[in-house]
Amino acid sequence: MKRLFFVIATTMLFAGCSGPKEVKVYNQGINIIPTPVELTEQEGSFTLKKSTHFVAHDEQAQKVAKFFAEKLKASTGYELQLAEGADNAISLALTDGMEPEAYTLDVTPTAVSIQASTASGLFYGMQSFLQLLPAEVESATMVNSVDWTAPCVSVKDAPRFHWRGFMADAGRHFQSVESVKKQIDVLASFKINTMHWHLTEDQGWRIEVKKYPRLTEVGAYRTEGDGTRYGGFYTQEQIKDIVAYAAERFITIVPEIEVPGHEMAAIAAYPNLACQGDTLSPRIVWAIEDWVMCPGKEDMFDMLEDIFAEIAPLFPGEYFHIGGDECPKTHWKECPQCQARIRKEGLAATKEHTAEERLQSYVIGRVEKMLDKLGKKIIGWDEILEGGLSEGAAVMSWRGEQGGITAASMQHDVVITSSRNGLYLDYYQGDPKVEPLAIGGFSDLKKVYDYDPVPAVLTEGGCDKFVKGVQCNIWAEYIYTDEYREYLMYPRLLALSEIAWSPLDRKDYADFERRINNAYVRLDGHGINYHIPLPEQPGGSCDHIAFTDSARLEFTTSRPIAMVYTTDGSEPTATSAAYSEPLTFKQNTTLKIASVLPSGKMSTIRTIAVEKQDLAPATAPEGAKAGEYTMKYAYGYYLNMDEFAKATDFEEKTITSLKDMSRMNPYNKSMRGEKYFGATAEGYVEIAEDGIYRISSTNEEVWIDGKKVIDNRGLPKKGVHTDTQLALAKGLHSLKTTFLSHIIGGWPSAWCNSDITVSAVAR
Ligand code: ACM
Ligand code: ZN
Repeated sequence: MKRLFFVIATTMLFAGCSGPKEVKVYNQGINIIPTPVELTEQEGSFTLKKSTHFVAHDEQAQKVAKFFAEKLKASTGYELQLAEGADNAISLALTDGMEPEAYTLDVTPTAVSIQASTASGLFYGMQSFLQLLPAEVESATMVNSVDWTAPCVSVKDAPRFHWRGFMADAGRHFQSVESVKKQIDVLASFKINTMHWHLTEDQGWRIEVKKYPRLTEVGAYRTEGDGTRYGGFYTQEQIKDIVAYAAERFITIVPEIEVPGHEMAAIAAYPNLACQGDTLSPRIVWAIEDWVMCPGKEDMFDMLEDIFAEIAPLFPGEYFHIGGDECPKTHWKECPQCQARIRKEGLAATKEHTAEERLQSYVIGRVEKMLDKLGKKIIGWDEILEGGLSEGAAVMSWRGEQGGITAASMQHDVVITSSRNGLYLDYYQGDPKVEPLAIGGFSDLKKVYDYDPVPAVLTEGGCDKFVKGVQCNIWAEYIYTDEYREYLMYPRLLALSEIAWSPLDRKDYADFERRINNAYVRLDGHGINYHIPLPEQPGGSCDHIAFTDSARLEFTTSRPIAMVYTTDGSEPTATSAAYSEPLTFKQNTTLKIASVLPSGKMSTIRTIAVEKQDLAPATAPEGAKAGEYTMKYAYGYYLNMDEFAKATDFEEKTITSLKDMSRMNPYNKSMRGEKYFGATAEGYVEIAEDGIYRISSTNEEVWIDGKKVIDNRGLPKKGVHTDTQLALAKGLHSLKTTFLSHIIGGWPSAWCNSDITVSAVAR
């Protein structure tokens, strides 16, 4: 077996105790992310010492110097002072004539000089300087194992876009204040400058409004499908604290209060906001809610005006996001007050737009006026184009690029955040069978990196200047922990940083991948739980492998990363056997396999049971047939098999498709008033020929030939990792499965297809 020693694969410069220290592989070369517009390497290096000082005369420059002196103290232990003298200095100077955020950085053997016209430019110059130093400079604790040496360079840099954003969705899952600040720290170091904060949703209202306390008393909490209470909100003091924290790092926070849809939590708190006025609860399942605000009611607008008046002053930025996406118009069609509004305001249907679309546009127009009075420009999701775009509105293009193209062609500002082009970071970044549950879709690091946010048609038409920037969104439906949020954010947000800042002709994915290895160590300094591509099996990953003679398992990673494994049940480490070719198994084995970065950091470890099986014989009695099942079902809410075991009132019927289990009760999208139940179906499955079969199901349990082969207890039944292979002989095999209609993790199992997939495994 080959062993990997790349963790210590370093360039040894000198082995003495006070001489230069080793330069780790990941610290070699230039590692700045986003790559600068122009960088010229010079002879020599600058070493940061205890005696290094800052030179900064302007108050703003001094603020930046103090910020970095504080930061450098943590990892280097040096307490750099403001002083005079060019030698051994980091000088920060404000000069005229440069673009906002632009900077120059010159590192010589004796000094570092940063010039910019704005404090943000100085800040970014310093961030680039820090990225010339070893990655350990981001450590929160003192590091003695590196020399604080930066190569001499001359840099001229400026951003391609002024909106370099990420969107955090506090509505679905609340993010702690500490976690928000942690991300702000990290993203500022990669020159991201906008945090779009999605603060209200069907599932939770997350910002204190003093005039309407029920928005948080009622709207910030929900009772989940498993009975637990979930919730939280930010007080206005916390908001101010975070906004100030972000501003110190040159990040503008753009709040989003959604109108007129995605507001079930507010409607739960103040039922009169909706057309019907009924009392409901904040939504506890994902997807789109039919209950929306009623634009027929003047007091709905009054309340919005009050809310904006309290919230807008908390956020000093230019823009206020007003949502506008995914607003079903079904209730408006039936609401006498909405219809009266349509008549009164002359919003009759046109060739292009329905009356209700025009009503939505009317809402956005009124909101725009409210926010204009508060000194804010509005930005909204691309649906705000439907029904006619408000005069000064900027558009966030999310359903692809078309909304952005249309708006920019009409000379409206646009931010591209296209879900189709890799910018939705709630999408999978690897094989869904090995990655934690995500919403769906696919966007790996390369897809984000390869994207150019300016559609060619806008450049051709001269409207590219209306593209103000690019942003990644991280919707939080399946983000059950702050750690998983980080896993989805990093390193993909570093690709966003580069496409948002660097000019197209400086993009180089191979070099970016190399630089990412350095960035990972910086992220380690912040304790970030970033994604490391997992070992995946081409053709479908599976953790339960069956074979009769031998099994050959092949593994790949979505980016070139080494893999290590063990076969004795022990946890692999960076120095375990290196995976270099497919592995062959002839006996029962527990394979543990993980990827490992040049820093030695390991991915999640996959544990794969590889089992030798005899072909299970077909056991069906005479007269048995496939495609007919006896289903026994009982109404009630059963979270698991133990609860279902207590069910008493069973009914029975014959079904011809296992899909009929989940279809037994037509469900509604909101799951309100749903009739829940559990059902067990028994029958036979026909196996066409002897072989290895993969069994896959989101049902609670699956049994084949009397053996439990799938157990999804406690899991959201959306995508599961419990696929199992079995060696089965040709013929009919008994099958039993239980489907429980319940909601776990915001996902109603009723939305699943209760069929079972049995597919032959190619060997
Ligand atoms: C969105 O993803 N609904 C803007
Ligand atoms: Zn209405």
